[in-house]
Amino acid sequence: MKDNFSIRYDGWKPKKQKLRETLCTLGNGYIATRGAAEESRADEVNYPGTYLAGGFNRARTEVSGKIIENEDFVNFPNWLCLNFRPERGEWLNLNTQNVPDYQQTLDMRSGTLIREFRVEDEAGRRTALRSKRIVSMRDKHIAAIHWSLTPENWSGSLEICSALDGNVINDNVPRYRELESRHLKPATTEKIGDNAIFLLAETRQSRILMAQAARTSLYQGERQLTPLISTNQREGYIEQLLRVDVEEGTTYTLEKVVGIYSSRDRAISHPGIEAKKSVQRAGRFEEICARHGEAIQKLWNRADIGIINGDKNQQLLRLHVFHLLQTVSSNTIGMDVGVPSRGLHGEGYRGHIFWDEVYIFPFLNLRFPDLTRSLLMYRYYRLEEARFAAAEVGKEGAMYPWQSGSNGREETQVMHLNPASGNWIPDNTHLQRHISSAIAYNIWNYYLTTDDQQFLSFFGAEMFLSIALFWASMTTHNKEKDRYEIHGVVGPDEYHTSYPDSDQLGLNNNAYTNVMAAWVMQKALHIVDIIEKSRRRELMKELHITEADLELWKDISKKMYVPFLDKHVISQFEGYEKLEEFPWEAYREKYDDIHRLDRVLESEGDTPNRYKASKQADVLMLFYLFTKTEIERIFENLGLEFSEELVSKNIAYYRDRTSHGSTLSRVVFSWILLKYDQQQSWDNFETVLISDFEDIQGGTTPEGIHLGAMAGSLDLVQRAFLGLEVGEDALWIDPPLLDHLKKISLRVQYRRHWIAVSLDDKKLLITFETGWKNEVNIGVQGKIHTFKLGEVREFFLNE
Ligand code: BGC
Repeated sequence: MKDNFSIRYDGWKPKKQKLRETLCTLGNGYIATRGAAEESRADEVNYPGTYLAGGFNRARTEVSGKIIENEDFVNFPNWLCLNFRPERGEWLNLNTQNVPDYQQTLDMRSGTLIREFRVEDEAGRRTALRSKRIVSMRDKHIAAIHWSLTPENWSGSLEICSALDGNVINDNVPRYRELESRHLKPATTEKIGDNAIFLLAETRQSRILMAQAARTSLYQGERQLTPLISTNQREGYIEQLLRVDVEEGTTYTLEKVVGIYSSRDRAISHPGIEAKKSVQRAGRFEEICARHGEAIQKLWNRADIGIINGDKNQQLLRLHVFHLLQTVSSNTIGMDVGVPSRGLHGEGYRGHIFWDEVYIFPFLNLRFPDLTRSLLMYRYYRLEEARFAAAEVGKEGAMYPWQSGSNGREETQVMHLNPASGNWIPDNTHLQRHISSAIAYNIWNYYLTTDDQQFLSFFGAEMFLSIALFWASMTTHNKEKDRYEIHGVVGPDEYHTSYPDSDQLGLNNNAYTNVMAAWVMQKALHIVDIIEKSRRRELMKELHITEADLELWKDISKKMYVPFLDKHVISQFEGYEKLEEFPWEAYREKYDDIHRLDRVLESEGDTPNRYKASKQADVLMLFYLFTKTEIERIFENLGLEFSEELVSKNIAYYRDRTSHGSTLSRVVFSWILLKYDQQQSWDNFETVLISDFEDIQGGTTPEGIHLGAMAGSLDLVQRAFLGLEVGEDALWIDPPLLDHLKKISLRVQYRRHWIAVSLDDKKLLITFETGWKNEVNIGVQGKIHTFKLGEVREFFLNE
């Protein structure tokens, strides 16, 4: 744990391998490959997956007599394939051979994965291997492997196999195994030089082409060797066998440089041409690695968060920064993709994009605003589809899908398998219409952080107002209450999708959904006010928004119905009070793990719909997403009384009724508990930190990271523990002074100004490093200070 820029695993542990693979995934925001062993094939122990950002394919399967279609995140051809054997020996296989020592290190500072081990074959021939791998952050189409191989006690002929394997299927998620998993057509293969091979694969339905070209070279010191090379091909697979005589005690190096292109790329003729060209032009491993190292260092300069040196938490925080940047980076800009909730790290949730960006964008906004803009554009390009979806259910405006993939249609699976019971059950979580509010929230916060008026008035406003139109048409006016209501939806808590004993789907007046809709109305009116007048006219005309609509929005923003259980406790939805209390203790005794209560109950023939038991924060999301001032304003606008007592009573009520079946839930709890119970807030934060590293859900991390929770932990440090708040007038910093965390240092970009902040107990050091204007306003503990370019100021904080 000394070096908290790396994660080191000792010993070959087959049972842990799939988890390690996920956590050692290398990517560059364009493509990513799991940290599988080069010599491995998909089996019980290994799963070498390669994923392309936006690389989806649809396939149909018959389940229980019904044809269902899913859009999957395609596992593309495996470019890692590299293996060796001594003459007449067996190919390297860590599961069958003697491995006296094994070490695997994810070096996050340099973005490399290193494996070092010794292996002994049946004849007692011992070989030491050091493998180093990169997926270049700088040259996004290049990935490379470097092997140093030493025959320790033998001399003779060494055979190396370097291959590209297109015969892969999607097999990472056991729950999906009964579904169609073949997404690639048999690939074409070609030898493209003495030591170079090529493979071209195509997805079956979406017809995405992926081309891979690989060059494999052998060296002894600086001298390039001329091994005997033979090339073998069969359908979908091509390999080169390199034979060379080696001597005991001498180290040989091997470089496999791979060029990867897809038909989704820009500035290409054909992916095949580009892949071949790129591998010809790429230099030696060291050069590629040096360029990659510089690019990754640049990312660290922007994104690192320092807390306590040498601490495990520091290491895990960096792991979270690292994996966020493997999933999305400057290479992602312009790619027409969103952020998959499970990273580019596995096939869990099929690479789909949910509302998790709400947890992810606050960190990106303050460091990589161009990236967030591009990710928001993913939604803009799918606005037409969202309009169609709204019209299909008889509504106006735009209704974004709960799960989004290639073209923005609803991708939530229709049926899912409960592994606890083996039953296929309908999935009704698509009724989470609150996703559209999350998109609106992301648009607004991007604007607030960047002051990008151009984006707001053009793309942002069009999406935002379309979402407002949708919500307005979703509401019905209840004359008796003189309040607006929203019916037939599901809140963030996915355990409740309908009323018990009702055959109608959805719930009425989910408080979170209603309050968010009211916020959207109010913000939409504000946006209409602040954008340029000509744009306002254009949009009103294009979207058919009338003055009467604006009046209606105003009315809704003031009179949206929010159900309450008593004076202080908000009801998660209307009728929640009629549900039964859940026997938590009895279930904790009966089962080892009740995180996924939905699965447990279904396997017993029961349903969580009957109980006051939530999967994750729902009502409490409101206190997470909005600052105190904002939520006070929203409540005031709604004519509701807001008090600290209300917040604390809601926390206490729902804390006792939440199973944290989603890793996102802990992020929210850490945040909202901060003011009321520092210890519990910290415990929740530490749980977020270990959730993927220790795979606390017992098997979900091998299917991909949980990026919302990872990025959420980073956001907790900046906005909760450092007290950073983005305002229109200033960047506010008001650290809560915690017992658990006294040192934090980070850098943020606020409205085109780079600001370094470091907290050391009660001392706060702020530097206005560089920016587009010579001045920036920074508020510390309630008072605004105007900083000049280059200015450094120290503050001593009051309790
Ligand atoms: C959570 C959702 C989340 C999704 C993807 C689900 O388990 O309930 O809130 O968006 O995972 O991370």
